[in-house]
Amino acid sequence: MTSDQQTSSPARLRLLTRADVPFADSLRALADWNQTRADWERFLATEPNGCFLAEWNGAPAGTATTIVYGPELAWIGMLLVHPDYRRRGLGRALLLRCLEYLRGRGVRCIKLDATPVGRAVYHGLGFQDEWTLRRWVGQRAGPAPATSAAGLRPWRAADAALVASLDAAAFGISRQRLLAALAPQSVAGLVVESEPGRLAGYGLLRPGSQALYLGPVVAESAEAGLCLVEGLLARTESQTVLWDIPDLNAVAVSWAGANGFVVQRPLTRMFLGENLAPGNPRQQFALAGPEVG
Ligand SMILES: CC(C)(COP(=O)(O)OP(=O)(O)OC[C@H]1O[C@@H](n2cnc3c(N)ncnc32)[C@H](O)[C@@H]1OP(=O)(O)O)[C@@H](O)C(=O)NCCC(=O)NCCS
Repeated sequence: MTSDQQTSSPARLRLLTRADVPFADSLRALADWNQTRADWERFLATEPNGCFLAEWNGAPAGTATTIVYGPELAWIGMLLVHPDYRRRGLGRALLLRCLEYLRGRGVRCIKLDATPVGRAVYHGLGFQDEWTLRRWVGQRAGPAPATSAAGLRPWRAADAALVASLDAAAFGISRQRLLAALAPQSVAGLVVESEPGRLAGYGLLRPGSQALYLGPVVAESAEAGLCLVEGLLARTESQTVLWDIPDLNAVAVSWAGANGFVVQRPLTRMFLGENLAPGNPRQQFALAGPEVG
């Protein structure tokens, strides 16, 4: 491509700003995704130089966000291109801009959770599959279970440090900043305190634009994980719940299937670079969201 062609290209990338949130959220709605405006605001507050907008002939056409967890791992999310502007290279260009930003920050491994169509774009750029997960949808069936079992209690602000270390062991790296932002936005938060001052699990139930979102839920044991899932679902008043579960977490998958949840769509966790922080998907009973891990 000559420099003339480059300057006359209808595609342009720039930083996503708060003024773009209405457009970004309209794209999100077109794709039937569940995030909220508060999620966009959080992305911008967390990574103001790492969220991007693509324009086509000056019109906003696509988005992508990043989160740096540390030098070992960063996340790419919210890759969306308006249906009118697809297959013109915008998705790929947004992704390349994210990679450029993250490499500039010294990040050595980049991950994302890919939809089947997104996977085609990521494969082309060298991303490899790590494991599969599925989005489940359902509602609490039957009466609310007794939730006082096994040390289950509400999440308190003072739990943050214990939650962060439990979460880091399961996820692979600390998400302390993310969790600190998600907890106050949540509908409910619970922990399992296995003995005084020791947590065996934590979980959040969050608002969504289409349905409640169950996650993240992280636990050291099947018992603690399912106790959290049941305790959080008990707070849903039978509203529809979306729940992303790693297929490797057989306990959560079989509980979901046995309790009326059905699979809505498959996703693939992918990574680029050296997988320095693999984490343990068997301790992840619910993701925090494909857009953040
Ligand atoms: C995925 C998405 C962002 C791709 O955006 P896009 O601007 O159309 O992608 P590009 O034009 O840059 O495509 C890059 C390459 O990806 C592949 N690709 C993209 N869309 C594809 C499709 N529908 N089917 C098969 N391959 C596809 C192709 O190899 C393409 O190159 P080509 O057009 O030269 O063949 C867009 O389809 C979208 O917003 N989908 C809905 C939301 C979503 O699933 N986002 C991904 C989240 S992980």
